[in-house]
Amino acid sequence: MSQRTLVLLKPDAVRRGLTGEIISRIERKAGWQITALELRTLDRGTLEQHYAEHVGKPFYEPLVEFMSSGPVVVLIVEGERVIEGVRALAGPTDPIAAAPGSIRGDYGVIVRENLIHASDSEESAEREVKIFFPGRV
Ligand code: TYD
Ligand code: MG
Repeated sequence: MSQRTLVLLKPDAVRRGLTGEIISRIERKAGWQITALELRTLDRGTLEQHYAEHVGKPFYEPLVEFMSSGPVVVLIVEGERVIEGVRALAGPTDPIAAAPGSIRGDYGVIVRENLIHASDSEESAEREVKIFFPGRV
């Protein structure tokens, strides 16, 4: 089933020069297409919408500080089972729990600085695409 997903390459990935490497892993998957790609610095309002489910949690404020600390790369990726697929490439939230070979497992140590966001369901993907690309159908 063809889907689309919203991906963010977080400020740590941009600062460390890992965006090309991460985008390559996504591009190499058969049949997936990058249909939007943009460097952007996120403001608190956008992040509050994006992370609405986490507002008020203990990690929320430091997360917003981190996510607005420098530019991110915003992508839409489309293709077969891409929502589950990019989550699998990324690995679990905690990079130490993530297997080597996954993006977080290969490059991450700190939970907050885990390099990549990817939508976790079709509903999240549609909600998040609207936040970052409001004009898009
Ligand atoms: P979450 O949606 O649980 O993870 P994922 O990005 O894998 O969907 O959390 C959003 C982000 O918040 C997560 O990528 C990193 C940060 N975070 C923390 O800093 N501390 C935490 O304890 C958790 C659960 C998340
Ligand atoms: Mg999440």
